[in-house]
Amino acid sequence: MSRRRRAWWAALLLAVPVACVAQVLDFSADERQRILQHGPWPLPPQADASNRVQARPEAVALGRALFFDTGLSRSGAMACATCHQPARAFSDGQPTARGDRNTPGLLDAGQHRWFGWGGEHDSLWAASLAPLLAPHEIGATPATLLARLQATPALLRRYTALFGAPRADETLAVHLAKALAAYQATLVSPRTPFDDFRDALARGDTAAAARYPLAAQRGLRLFIGEGRCAVCHAGPLFSNGEFADIGVPFFTREGVDAGRWAGIAAVRSSRSNRLGPWSDAGPDDARAVGTRHVLREPRHFGEFRVPGLRQLQHTAPYMHNGSLASIEAVVQHYSALNEERLHADGERILRPLRLDDRAAADLAAFLRSLSAR
Ligand code: HEC
Ligand code: HEC
Repeated sequence: MSRRRRAWWAALLLAVPVACVAQVLDFSADERQRILQHGPWPLPPQADASNRVQARPEAVALGRALFFDTGLSRSGAMACATCHQPARAFSDGQPTARGDRNTPGLLDAGQHRWFGWGGEHDSLWAASLAPLLAPHEIGATPATLLARLQATPALLRRYTALFGAPRADETLAVHLAKALAAYQATLVSPRTPFDDFRDALARGDTAAAARYPLAAQRGLRLFIGEGRCAVCHAGPLFSNGEFADIGVPFFTREGVDAGRWAGIAAVRSSRSNRLGPWSDAGPDDARAVGTRHVLREPRHFGEFRVPGLRQLQHTAPYMHNGSLASIEAVVQHYSALNEERLHADGERILRPLRLDDRAAADLAAFLRSLSAR
């Protein structure tokens, strides 16, 4: 046998056992319990009483057309989809877009409770109304929106069927935002290798569970255990829907991004919040209670929304300011965490993890398994 051949056989013999030991780690009952909490997936759609057209197929169709329509914008060149690109899980690949903030993906947006990195909005339609009118985004006005509808028979027909004849006032923009929300509420992220593993564990199917790479299993163990990631990145969405400080600097070119501190002031004073005249739910809306009672405390300064982690692979760069370019950089951030940076009240949950190379690679492998291709 030539030396080359021998080397080839040796490599094969080494590879075979590795391939055969596909297995499932000895997760404890408690670990299994924690893993199961991240599913099942997908979640049932969430109704939104503040938007009476949210579940209407005609509103979804109108919203989809509007979302991709550059003709709504002042420049004629920008649509929602310019920044929220379907191929990037509805993000844009840029560190920051509007001002100093990173464009979040929109998959599973129908499940959120607060919108924007600082929770500036309390509904999907209010979070859609803001960019529709913001001068540096779509920059529409009631008059330009009416002109666009009148120039586009397909849009006008759909609008009229849902809301009646359009008028060039604030209601027009609100109606279009509600149609945009109806469309976005249909954007659900696909099942992932993690979901297959989780469901296999749930039904005790070890053979199926063993298809999930060991590195991802070890990373998962870290995520739900020692890493304490799941304290904030909880449940099927991998977010508890709240706000936290993980020591990402909040200084910007112009000053500071106060995050949730400013977000609470914004959502409470917004005319388009759940307590305002445009909500279809009225005062009994259970979710409006949250808006009425949210209180601003010093700890909110520099807190940002805990992002969900599904489809993470497609939404780089990461964090509210897009400051971390890759999943590896995020893992490094948590590994080397600078506790001095966590604000005075402190996030008592986080400690620098000081991961060795293998553990860091495992955690990254797990985070990757939360995305489908
Ligand atoms: C110039 C780029 C840009 C355009 C155009 C744009 N967005 Fe955004 N979008 C962003 C950024 C950046 C944020 C984060 C804003 C923040 O946190 O303050 C965001 C946030 C959102 C959110 C909140 C998501 C969440 O999970 O919190 C929704 C919903 C949204 N945009 C919908 C829309 C719709 C609908 C349109 C079109 C009417 C639109 N966007 C146009 C950049 C853009
Ligand atoms: C105290 C709550 C908390 C804990 C614990 C926590 N995170 Fe986070 N995570 C956040 C917040 C808040 C952000 C957004 C911070 C920002 O943008 O400034 C974030 C951002 C991220 C992001 C970027 C997502 C994106 O779309 O930009 C990833 C990935 C991530 N965390 C993974 C982890 C991992 C892995 C762990 C465990 C080692 C962990 N997190 C522990 C709250 C937490």
